[in-house]
Amino acid sequence: MYLGIDLGTSGLRALLIDDQGRAIGSSEAHYSAVHPHAGWSEQDPAEWIAALEKAVAHLRASHPEFAALKGIGVAGHMHGATLLDAENNVLRPCILWNDTRSHTEAAALDHLPVFREISANIVFPGFTAPKLMWVAKNEPEVFAKVAKVLLPAAYLNWYLTGAHVADMSDSAGTSWLDVGARDWSSRLLSASHMRKDQMPRLVEGSAPAGQLRADLAQAWGVGDVTVAGGAGDNAAAACGIGALTEGQGFVSLGTSGVLLAARNGFAPAPATALHTFCHAVPDRWYQMGVMLSATDSLNWLASITGKSPRELVEPLGETLPPPGRVRFLPYLSGERTPHNDAAIRGSFTGLGTDTTVNDMVLAVLTGVAFGLRDSAEALRATGAELGQLFAIGGGSASALWLKLIATVLDLPLAKPEAGEFGAALGAARLGQVAATGADPARIMTPPPIGAVIAPQADLVAAYDDAYRAFRAAYPAIRAIQ
Ligand code: XUL
Repeated sequence: MYLGIDLGTSGLRALLIDDQGRAIGSSEAHYSAVHPHAGWSEQDPAEWIAALEKAVAHLRASHPEFAALKGIGVAGHMHGATLLDAENNVLRPCILWNDTRSHTEAAALDHLPVFREISANIVFPGFTAPKLMWVAKNEPEVFAKVAKVLLPAAYLNWYLTGAHVADMSDSAGTSWLDVGARDWSSRLLSASHMRKDQMPRLVEGSAPAGQLRADLAQAWGVGDVTVAGGAGDNAAAACGIGALTEGQGFVSLGTSGVLLAARNGFAPAPATALHTFCHAVPDRWYQMGVMLSATDSLNWLASITGKSPRELVEPLGETLPPPGRVRFLPYLSGERTPHNDAAIRGSFTGLGTDTTVNDMVLAVLTGVAFGLRDSAEALRATGAELGQLFAIGGGSASALWLKLIATVLDLPLAKPEAGEFGAALGAARLGQVAATGADPARIMTPPPIGAVIAPQADLVAAYDDAYRAFRAAYPAIRAIQ
């Protein structure tokens, strides 16, 4: 038995799999982020621990097989800064990936060429290094006490093992890692006034980070359990969907939208605002474009129209119409790929007295699809092979949205047959590899495909034209904001 833990932004999911990789049971516990000021997003790590204990208690009560647990893997939302003092006390709430308070510090670090050269990425406002610069400036008494900076998944590793250990894939999103060499960079650390001793020990995501603490093992009724290095959530989702090699990847329609391609080699392209991160298995990397408001765009429209996202999308049916006149720029929280623009905000254009709510819903779905196309274009420009992609995440439940995205990307999308467990499954698989020493490629296989959604050939050209217009809209809107 292996346990995968997906520490998400809105809750934690624990998934138990057996030796054949079949899901045995899962449990979820929810929490939320708090936003004390505009642009801030924080979480109390104590809530993660409470959620973990709750999910484990539920799994133990419902699945006696839990007692045969051999390995655990943790996947976490990336980039968060969990600050510990020398006694491992949490110094302040964790500053999350979608917190943009440190955009000035991010721009200052990004201005130093060494950051893009060594970390292979733009220093985005949500990344970890600028957060520490912000803390140094605004909370110097906290900064002075920082003995360790842990990403959310590494904080759970610490809780589970008692050791400060992080994996490569998550650490690649800190702006402190030499992503090509897979090691902390002293130059990047010192450029942001940090020290190597404040960083956790690095291991590959599929390698052991340590053993489950004896007191926890006793409390959970298990024996000797190996804890894997774990992963950032996107790398874990790639492990769950079997995307380890060139040509494999996925589109994820969650709060944020991700288009991820596994890469055999290291081909950084920071100027495109693509993310180039270590994979959770050795000698592999992945690249992804991240758009900040995917299902969030639809959720926003739902909230202001007093409907649920499903109530908005259902009236459109499942037949893809040609692109409409109404256009939507999905920049409700700024954008990462391709614009790296924390200040830009969204817009509707082409509204008329004849515009209906349905037109606006189609515009939102299309705007998100175009945002993903931006990432696909950037990925193709780096030489990444984009073939059939898996579609995962909450938004992939909409058949119309998938048809639209397949047509806009001009790529077939595969929907996993059933029980898509994403990052939790990938995390459990990392736990299995760490505990058994199995070959990751043997464990991290693609799931059975339920349906393949092909691009709608007669509309590809029309959506291509509409995409060109979408590209032209950003600089125009930028100029008037
Ligand atoms: C990736 C990113 C998000 C978070 C939240 O760079 O910021 O995908 O990991 O899930």
